[in-house]
Amino acid sequence: MSTARRTLITGGDLVSTTSTTPTDVLVEGERVVALLAPGTQIAAEDRIDATGCYVLPGGVDVHTHMEMPFGGTEASDTFETGTRAAAFGGTTTVVDFVVQRTGEVVERALETWHAKAAGNSAVDYGFHMILGGVDEDSLTAMDSLVAHEGITSFKLFMAYPGVFYSDDGQILRAMQRATDNGATIMMHAENGIAIDVLVQQALAAGNTDPVFHGLTRPAELEAEAVNRAIALAAVAGGTPLYVVHVSASQALARIAAERTAGANVFAETCPQYLYLTLEDHLGAGGPGSFEGAKYACSTPLRSKHERHAADLWQGLRTDDLAVVSTDHCPFCFNDQKQLGVGDFSKIPNGMGGVEHRLDLVHQGVVDGHLSLQRWVETCSTTPARMFGMYPRKGAIAPGSDADIVVYDPSATTRISARTHHMNIDYSAFEGFELTGGVRTVLSRGRTIVDRGTYLGSPSHGQFVRRGLSQYLR
Ligand code: URP
Ligand code: ZN
Ligand code: ZN
Ligand code: ZN
Repeated sequence: MSTARRTLITGGDLVSTTSTTPTDVLVEGERVVALLAPGTQIAAEDRIDATGCYVLPGGVDVHTHMEMPFGGTEASDTFETGTRAAAFGGTTTVVDFVVQRTGEVVERALETWHAKAAGNSAVDYGFHMILGGVDEDSLTAMDSLVAHEGITSFKLFMAYPGVFYSDDGQILRAMQRATDNGATIMMHAENGIAIDVLVQQALAAGNTDPVFHGLTRPAELEAEAVNRAIALAAVAGGTPLYVVHVSASQALARIAAERTAGANVFAETCPQYLYLTLEDHLGAGGPGSFEGAKYACSTPLRSKHERHAADLWQGLRTDDLAVVSTDHCPFCFNDQKQLGVGDFSKIPNGMGGVEHRLDLVHQGVVDGHLSLQRWVETCSTTPARMFGMYPRKGAIAPGSDADIVVYDPSATTRISARTHHMNIDYSAFEGFELTGGVRTVLSRGRTIVDRGTYLGSPSHGQFVRRGLSQYLR
């Protein structure tokens, strides 16, 4: 007989991608062992009363940048602070981006990231690899990362010339390699060469405010890059392509058309594009104000006078957008963002949100944009499948890791920098009042958050070796 401790979660509604069903969940040690009819009598050392709550698989955030050197500074959340904040928000797995800078050896970059994360993570974590330089060595490294290191996805940049930028030939070569080894290519799709021209023109004209960060990155240049990435993936033999942080209707339309044609093209969006806008946030405070720097990220926030947010919600309903991630890349306003005073192009790009993704997307359920099933699918199950972690992650089923969120749909979540757990001195969603809230979070069977109290430890989170995508068409 097993000696592992048993936990019985009773009285809740189990939410999966297909149903919402009253179910008791039995956990033994680190795994789910049984789904039981409500009220089934069974011995368990621990009981969690989930009456009135949803019980869902822990959130999977496949786009975070903990302590990433970027924009002349470093993202302000460490693995320790960022994964603890994730835990508070019901996210039990993050997939963070290792950064290979141009000229750096891929394997050394990976060692650096393991050293940052190991022993410092509240929740389990995997890695993608940013290829900052595509050459013979990095192409060879791709094969070995897929085969031996559990890293099966590689991010390339069509933006940021001189930093992470790859030209079309480099992109094609990496895609060809991915077609051979089965990896997924993740694309930052913005035409960085054209954007740099617009940026220089804006600065020369004295247009230095944060809003010009958005105005110099027009939606057409996102759509153009998406279009080019899709074409290159097709030429490379049908490489699985995953477009990150989609913000513009035009880009989504291109993705949707290609998906209708049957291609292995997938995409994510992030809560900031669903809720925040160019005018109200990036342009906050009007001319001369620096407030908008809080909201400078790339792709940028889009105009509220266009259909972007409505189209993104629709894309989430139709699966043309399969995943909601956060692109968590926090920089403090009072020091780091100030690098861009007088020159919007020097504002470190990114915002923090790893703590609030489940709540912000659940609000989309409350507001009638999404079903409960799509909430779980876009925030947990599909990201786990897309990046080769299913059904260990993204499901509550016998054998799955007991990564479980008890979510109270009648709670209220008030977002504020005064109360959040991310290491950032502002919240992009300050003052938001959301219906619903995380009550209890289990990571591999251990309760790590309960009613606002952290019970986890930075030595708990383990590296997840991922397989190939399980979401191909
Ligand atoms: O502005 C952003 N998105 N910063 C993080 C880096 C990236 O491009 O994802
Ligand atoms: Zn990006
Ligand atoms: Zn990112
Ligand atoms: Zn700071």
